[in-house]
Amino acid sequence: MRTKMVAGNWKMNKTLQEGVALATELKEALKQQTPKCEVVIATPFIHLASVAQVIEGSPIRLAAENCADKAQGAYTGEVSAAMVRSTGAEYCIIGHSERRAYYHEDYSILREKVLLALENGLKPIFCIGEVKEEREANIHEQVVKDQLEGSVFNLTAEQFAQVTLAYEPVWAIGTGLTATPAQAQEMHAFIRKTVAEKYGAQVADDTTILYGGSCNAKNAAELFANPDVDGGLIGGASLKAPDFCTIIAAR
Ligand code: 13P
Repeated sequence: MRTKMVAGNWKMNKTLQEGVALATELKEALKQQTPKCEVVIATPFIHLASVAQVIEGSPIRLAAENCADKAQGAYTGEVSAAMVRSTGAEYCIIGHSERRAYYHEDYSILREKVLLALENGLKPIFCIGEVKEEREANIHEQVVKDQLEGSVFNLTAEQFAQVTLAYEPVWAIGTGLTATPAQAQEMHAFIRKTVAEKYGAQVADDTTILYGGSCNAKNAAELFANPDVDGGLIGGASLKAPDFCTIIAAR
């Protein structure tokens, strides 16, 4: 049985104090509502150590939103996978479309990040997804296949088993334009088939594939009802504890 998961990606939101308050609110809310899935929050680097203390003893797991593509050394301003792990974080988002688009993270950089995360005991949440023009040109399947081949299909099956995939169509992120449940299911099934071709049916069946892109308290249940949608990677709606809890309850 593959893991079901709802993960929040805070992106570049919340001061440290606001982030600690949000994590505290979420922890309290989840005392009333025992989650049936893995609950993860991905916070900015500077929040990690403090939020780790807040959520200790709760069902909430911690993720970073990124890590460096170098192990250590003279890389001013970067944060390594080992540093992330030392805060208590267990997961690391890698390959988010915002990192690909704004910080020019290409397949080979992301390959390094995934390997460093794994070497340091972090489970990658690896994001893939097409932009609007690619969907309009009907090449969205090829795009996500290339993204998988470019950065994670170099892994051994044992390493790949540590990876959670997140299908995030870029045209749906922060736009309010959610993929329809049918569009999400179609892509998730394609992604699972692609994983099966590479690693076999068992690995594919065990792979958690999250949907991300304007997933919210209103539409989460119908997205999660699809057999290949194992949960969500939630941006905006993860910044409000009640909304995030509603999404968790939908899984
Ligand atoms: P929104 O939920 O704000 O569309 O963001 C999705 C996302 O990018 C999560 O990583």
